[in-house]
Formats: sequence, structure tokens, C-alpha cells
Amino acid sequence: MTILHVEEQAILTSEDVVRVRQAVRARAVQSGFSLVDQTKLVTAASELARNALEHGGGGSVRLELINDGVRRAVRLTFHDTGPGIADIQQALKDGFTTGGGLGLGLGGAKRLSNEFDISSTPGQGTRVTIARWR
Ligand SMILES: Nc1ncnc2c1ncn2[C@@H]1O[C@H](COP(=O)(O)OP(=O)(O)OP(=O)(O)O)[C@@H](O)[C@H]1O
Ligand SMILES: [Mg+2]
Repeated sequence: MTILHVEEQAILTSEDVVRVRQAVRARAVQSGFSLVDQTKLVTAASELARNALEHGGGGSVRLELINDGVRRAVRLTFHDTGPGIADIQQALKDGFTTGGGLGLGLGGAKRLSNEFDISSTPGQGTRVTIARWR
């Protein structure tokens, strides 16, 4: 697997969430994603960026363009050093929220991605990696 491009963005304000959306869209376009696939990836990224900001107290995202020799993907790794998630299975269920949201973000991001990996340690933070292949 080859990493063609890497960039890192902070997620500390709602303007940063907008910038993450724009950067993800640009990389999806560069990778030749259809408009529908661009929108799926941008929507997933937006939910995870908002979670890092609202539940994680801010964090960052690493954007990578990767190639497995046949196909390209955009891979995104969101990281925060917030309170973490005690029960990941519960957090992934539609409708579960500890805030005022709808509780659809995390499960939605998983459904919109081809790969989804989450790890979280209570008191230490949360890391979510998604990838969408072209
Ligand atoms: N980065 C994070 N740090 C800590 N807790 C998180 C994080 N991301 C998600 N969670 C927990 O998982 C729950 C579910 O997340 P999810 O995104 O599905 O819903 P939500 O953010 O509450 O509402 P919305 O539908 O607006 O996204 C959150 O309410 C929160 O308790
Ligand atoms: Mg959310």
C-alpha cells in the first residue's frame, strides 16, 4: 500500500469543521470519486469532526490518499484527547446520545464508509479511522 498524500488539520472550532469538509471534498475529487461518493465521505467526515469537537473537546484529523496498487482511497483518522467512550457498541447504536443530538453521527459515519475502526480509552480519548475506496 502506498500513501500518496498526507495532511493534518486541527479541529478546535466549528470553522475548522467546515475546513475539514472542504479538504475531504477536495481529496475525494482528486481521487476521482463520483459526486455521490464524495458526499458520503464528506458527510461521514463532518459527523466525526463534530464529535471530536463537541464530545472530545477538540482534536485533529489526518487525511491520507492511499493506493493499494489497484484502487485509491481517502483515509481519515480523527483523534481527540477528550473523555473517551465507555461503551462503543452503545455509542454506535442509532439514537444513543449523551448530548442533545440525534445520536446518528457515529453509526451513520460507519455506514457511509468502506472501513471503520474506533478505539477509545475512557479518560484518555478517542480515535476513529475511516476509509472510502473509489
Ligand atoms: N469523540 C468522542 N468523544 C467522546 N464521546 C463520543 C465521541 N464521539 C461520540 N461520542 C459518544 O457517542 C455518542 C453517540 O455519538 P453520535 O455522533 O452517534 O451522536 P451525537 O453526537 O450525540 O448526536 P448527532 O446525531 O448530532 O451526531 C455521543 O453522544 C457521545 O456520548
Ligand atoms: Mg455526533
